[in-house]
Amino acid sequence: MTAPAQPRRICLLGGGGFLGAHLVQALIERTPHRLVVIDTSFAKLESLPGGLGDRLRLRRADIRSPGVLVLAVGESDVLLSLTALCNPALYNTQPRAVIEASFSDLVPLVSLCTTQRRWLVHFSTCEVYGKTIPPAALSEESPMQLGPIDRERWTYACAKQLLERLIWARGAHDGLPFTIIRPFNVIGPRMDYMPGVDGEGTPRVLACFMHALLTGKPLQLVDGGRQRRSFCAVDDFVEAVLRVLERGDACRGEVINVGNPRNDVSIAELAKRLAELYVRRRGGERPLLEPVAARQLYGPGYDDVEQRVPDIRKAQRLLDWVPRLGLDEMLPPIVDDYLARYGEPRPAAPGR
Ligand code: UGA
Repeated sequence: MTAPAQPRRICLLGGGGFLGAHLVQALIERTPHRLVVIDTSFAKLESLPGGLGDRLRLRRADIRSPGVLVLAVGESDVLLSLTALCNPALYNTQPRAVIEASFSDLVPLVSLCTTQRRWLVHFSTCEVYGKTIPPAALSEESPMQLGPIDRERWTYACAKQLLERLIWARGAHDGLPFTIIRPFNVIGPRMDYMPGVDGEGTPRVLACFMHALLTGKPLQLVDGGRQRRSFCAVDDFVEAVLRVLERGDACRGEVINVGNPRNDVSIAELAKRLAELYVRRRGGERPLLEPVAARQLYGPGYDDVEQRVPDIRKAQRLLDWVPRLGLDEMLPPIVDDYLARYGEPRPAAPGR
């Protein structure tokens, strides 16, 4: 059994987002650490218990505002950096904002953590592997290949990869204590938003499909839905991150894939399974699945990844961790959560 963790001061930058909200909940329930959560919205944290006193402070702020990062680094032992614009529909429509959010805005954080010797746990992305060639079992040693410059899909991957390279350089040459985590298609309740209810545009695929089901529209399969992803349950992901935080000595200076290779599935198959579950819960007609051209859904400059399977041997070795939840176990609670949250379409709550 691992020794109980010493209380530490942990700051979650972007802790109000999908991954952040699940991490905050687990850190509060399962560790003695004190948390500062910095974000511009805390709507996803609504289910946290009140009365946590000093153990949880929510600070509504943009990390780009003067002084926010200086204060955060000064008062923390560990910083989890989760801020990002991580939605493919933005990569070719708001590329400058995506590059800034993934790289430029975070350069000061890397510098501050280096000079003050704070442990930076940075959440990168499996997108850094780029345009993978199937069969794609991607280890931390795999090469990274991006598409041409006019395929703006790769702005995010490129900016995230450059930040990883900066973090690595500051670690190798200037003593920055860091860990880079690469999540592979983590899904779960409270993911993204429902277009027209608490957000606008095209979210990631799970929210797109749930939106289609809830509004009675066809589920759109980009280029027929043959492309594959390995989906990881957010609970498995959170468990891996808690273990990283417990095992600083083993994890500092490391880049770690976190995902579930056993859940490699085509997007068409994902659509079919969600539609079946939805009908089982709600009744009604069988939802339609329809092919759509990538350009029609995302516009020019989009590109796709055919398959992306994580090699997680390093995570297994360092963390003594394996993902447990298969699609059969993870999808029903996700559908139930979307139904509970959005089953009756409601107007956006203030501040969302
Ligand atoms: C995502 C995002 O880049 C990041 O959030 C993240 O770093 C990473 O991958 C991840 O989730 O870990 P991608 O998997 O391509 O990239 O994003 P999704 O929007 O979830 O799309 C998955 C696949 O479904 C794509 O092939 C897309 O074309 C397809 N899709 C999406 C559909 O067929 N129909 C839709 O309505 C939406």
